[in-house]
Amino acid sequence: MKNENKKTNMYQPDERLKSEVTPEGLYFSRRELIKKGLVAAGALTLAACGIPPASNIPDPAVATGQASQGLITANNVDELGAALTPYDTVTHFNNFYEFSLDKEAVADRAKGFVTQPWQIQIGGLVKNPMTLSMEQINKNFAAEERVYRLRCVEGWSMVIPWNGFQLSHLLEQVEPQPDAKYVYFETTFDSNQMPGLRDPGFPWPYTEGLRLDEAMNPLTLLATGIYGKPLPPQDGAPIRLVVPWKYGFKSIKSIVKINLVNEQPATLWSSVAPNEYGFFANVNPDVSHPRWSQATERRLGEISRRPTLKFNGYEKEVAYLYEGMDLAVNY
Ligand code: MTE
Repeated sequence: MKNENKKTNMYQPDERLKSEVTPEGLYFSRRELIKKGLVAAGALTLAACGIPPASNIPDPAVATGQASQGLITANNVDELGAALTPYDTVTHFNNFYEFSLDKEAVADRAKGFVTQPWQIQIGGLVKNPMTLSMEQINKNFAAEERVYRLRCVEGWSMVIPWNGFQLSHLLEQVEPQPDAKYVYFETTFDSNQMPGLRDPGFPWPYTEGLRLDEAMNPLTLLATGIYGKPLPPQDGAPIRLVVPWKYGFKSIKSIVKINLVNEQPATLWSSVAPNEYGFFANVNPDVSHPRWSQATERRLGEISRRPTLKFNGYEKEVAYLYEGMDLAVNY
C-alpha cells in the first residue's frame, strides 16, 4: 500500500498508545484537526481512530449471548475462545456517520430512528428483481446466530453474536444473470432523520460493494439482530451487511438497495480516499494502512493489543477467493 500520508500531521502509532493512557489527547487532537481543517473530512475520521480509554469500556466478561450454531464452539465465546463483547459496548461504540462522527454519541443521536415501514429493492442484473418489506424478509429468511469478530480498519475489534441469514440465500432467489459480477449496496438517504447527511465532506448515500463470489460466500450475512434482539438503530437497523473477514467499513448499515452489476462499483470510502480504503479491504496484518500498521488491534475491553489475524481469522473459509491476487496491490 502507498504511504504518501506518512508526513502529514496525523498521529503515529506510538502517539495512539499514549492516547490510550491519556485519552483526552486523542479526542482533543481529532477536534483540533477538524478545526484547523488539516485533512479532508473523510480521510480524517477513520484515520483519527477513536480508540476509547480503557476505563470507559465495559468488562467483556459480562456477555449474555446465547451460542447456538454457525461458527460457535462454546457458549459466549467465538470459535477461537474469545469472549463476546458486551451488548452495552456493541451498542454504544459505533461508526455510523449519518448520525455522528463521535462513536459514543451515535446511539443517542440515532435513538428514535424510524425504520418502519422499510423496504429493500433488489435488482440490476437479475432474472427476478424484487422489493421486499422487512416483514417479508423476516418471514422468508430464517434467522440464525453467528458469532463473528468485527475488525475496524482503525485498529479496534469486537466479538458480536449476530442474528441474520446468508446473503447467498437472498441472491439465489433473485437469480443473478451470467454477466453479474459485483453486488452494490446502498444505505437509506433520510436527511430528516440523519443529521450527518448534511456533512458535505462525504458522497452520500453510504455505498459499498462485494464481488459476487464474496457475496455468495456462506460467511457473508445480512444481519437483522444482535444478542437475539432486533438490531438497534446505531448498529444498522433494520438490516445490515456483515462481512467478517473484511474491515468493518464494508459492513454497510440500514440497507435499502442491493443491485447486481457488471463492473466494480464505486463505494463511499474508496471514493473519499482511494489510496487508504480499497475495494477489497480484507483484514491483513501484513498490509499496513498508509498511516498506521495493521499488525495488531485492540479488542474493546482489553488493555493490551493482540495480533491481527489474516482475513480476521477466517482464512480457511475465504482464502480461495483471492488465489493468485497480490493482496498488497488489491488492498
Ligand atoms: N454503514 C453506514 N451506512 N454508515 C457508516 O458510517 N460505518 C462502517 C460500517 N457501516 C458505517 C456503516 C464502519 S467504519 C464500521 S467499523 C462498522 O459499520 C461499525 O459497525 P458497528 O457500529 O455496528 O460496530
